[in-house]
Amino acid sequence: MVESIEPAVLAAVDGSPAALNAVRWAAREASLRHLPLRLVHVCTLPPAPSTAPGGGGLVESRLEQGHRWLGEAHGQARAAEPGIEIHTRLRTGAAAAALIEEAATARLAVLGSRGLGGFPGLLLGSVSSALAAHGPCPVVVVRDALPPERGPIVVGVDASTSSDAAIAFAFDTAGRRQAPLVALHTWTDMSLGETWSVLPIDVEYDEVAEDERRLLAERLAGWREKYPDVPLALRTVRDRPVRGLLAAARGAQLVVVGSRGRHAFDGMGLGSTSQALLHHCPCPVAVVR
Ligand SMILES: Nc1ncnc2c1ncn2[C@@H]1O[C@H](COP(=O)(O)OP(=O)(O)O)[C@@H](O)[C@H]1O
Ligand SMILES: [Mg+2]
Repeated sequence: MVESIEPAVLAAVDGSPAALNAVRWAAREASLRHLPLRLVHVCTLPPAPSTAPGGGGLVESRLEQGHRWLGEAHGQARAAEPGIEIHTRLRTGAAAAALIEEAATARLAVLGSRGLGGFPGLLLGSVSSALAAHGPCPVVVVRDALPPERGPIVVGVDASTSSDAAIAFAFDTAGRRQAPLVALHTWTDMSLGETWSVLPIDVEYDEVAEDERRLLAERLAGWREKYPDVPLALRTVRDRPVRGLLAAARGAQLVVVGSRGRHAFDGMGLGSTSQALLHHCPCPVAVVR
């Protein structure tokens, strides 16, 4: 097991089933991207351990456990992708902060949706949540149910520039995985409804829908040219973004979203759509900033 700071696909290991799914997902991605896989476990040690009675032993056993988890993850990654280069790293400190630091030298960070902490019923742990909101690279969150290997990749396209990065990531990933890509744009009459409900105006939904379709096609035209081998389907749906994306996620292998949408403000880590998807999407979710 070697240490590394070269660009890699990072997988965060904490001994949980979701993290092992993340490791295998990351291993495939490392293989497709011709990058090393970097497995990282962050060991949070008790304060002032050596002075507390039995404290030294506790530190030792935590570190040993960390090495065991990394060894197990290494075995799973190796079995999934025999050809890839794998590095492991055991760090100490606060998990989210250390992983954000690790992600700064990674092309992609992959985490489980849950870890060993939290409580039953919690759908997204605090470490994944922090990385999705503040990670310096694209972050993929994988659930503890086995992620599908086939099916389309779905990218959510809204009017924000944040979705440009998501579109780029989605085409790149679809190309490598030889997966069809669905570009989904949702629109609603919500803002119209609230403002105009007092006015005697009938909204011409067909015309709005046509406009939305045209805008999506214009937005994607350049990408279609750049990735002629990626089968692309454009879909516009009159629904809320989360509902539209969750429906499209059925049977998909990955859903890609920008970190923030059109209604976000500076300093906000994660928009509400991305946040809801991370909680409820049955397949892996990539958050791209
Ligand atoms: N100490 C850690 N070291 C490395 N990765 C971690 C650590 N803690 C959590 N993770 C990563 O974050 C994912 C989610 O865990 P977490 O957010 O801590 O959820 P929970 O609150 O359920 O423990 C894990 O599946 C793993 O990928
Ligand atoms: Mg945890």
